[in-house]
Amino acid sequence: MIKQGFSLAMLLISPLLLASQTAEQLYSTAGGYGCSACHGKYANGAGNVGGNIRGASFEQLQIAFEQQPTMQLLGKSLSDIQKMKLIAYLDELSNSELLEWTIDLEPESNELELTTSKPAQLVIFNALLEPVVVDLSPLGGPNSLEIAAYSSHDWQWLPTPGNYSLTVGTRRLTLVVPQNTN
Ligand code: HEC
Repeated sequence: MIKQGFSLAMLLISPLLLASQTAEQLYSTAGGYGCSACHGKYANGAGNVGGNIRGASFEQLQIAFEQQPTMQLLGKSLSDIQKMKLIAYLDELSNSELLEWTIDLEPESNELELTTSKPAQLVIFNALLEPVVVDLSPLGGPNSLEIAAYSSHDWQWLPTPGNYSLTVGTRRLTLVVPQNTN
């Protein structure tokens, strides 16, 4: 009896759960593992099999669901509304300029030049097997953001012209925001 009551409740609740699911949640949980498993947490590819899909169109998504063996089952489990939500989410991500910084064993200096005046999203990937602390205050962020081993974190900000330097130990990232971007 209890079991029946439970499944009835689930039946009634699940459409509500689906409706209230944000596109971001859908992106990270679809099919159990999420689009993120293959396209990265920020749809930037992040070195995974799926590649960068920020700003992908509904048509590109439909083709991928038909033609990518690894995406076929997933495609069947999603409604058109869910697919549209995902596309809207990918579109929203493409409104920011993506900047990527990988922290690994190389004590490197990197420089990235912004090419647009869009809001920017810096995705920092900590490829080390220990946490790192990044000072994001030059970008108006927290001054000690801890990023766990082998994970990524993002920071979004509205760039204004200038040079911004972030350091982690001996590694340095300089972000260059030119005067005239469009
Ligand atoms: C098991 C791995 C996997 C999962 C999970 C996955 N994809 Fe993909 N996806 C791929 C691969 C592989 C490609 C082909 C990449 C290429 O051709 O370079 C692809 C291609 C795509 C493309 C086409 C990109 C283009 O340039 O045309 C889109 C859009 C896309 N995926 C969206 C999604 C979305 C949204 C989800 C979640 C609902 C998802 N994928 C889940 C592996 C995956």
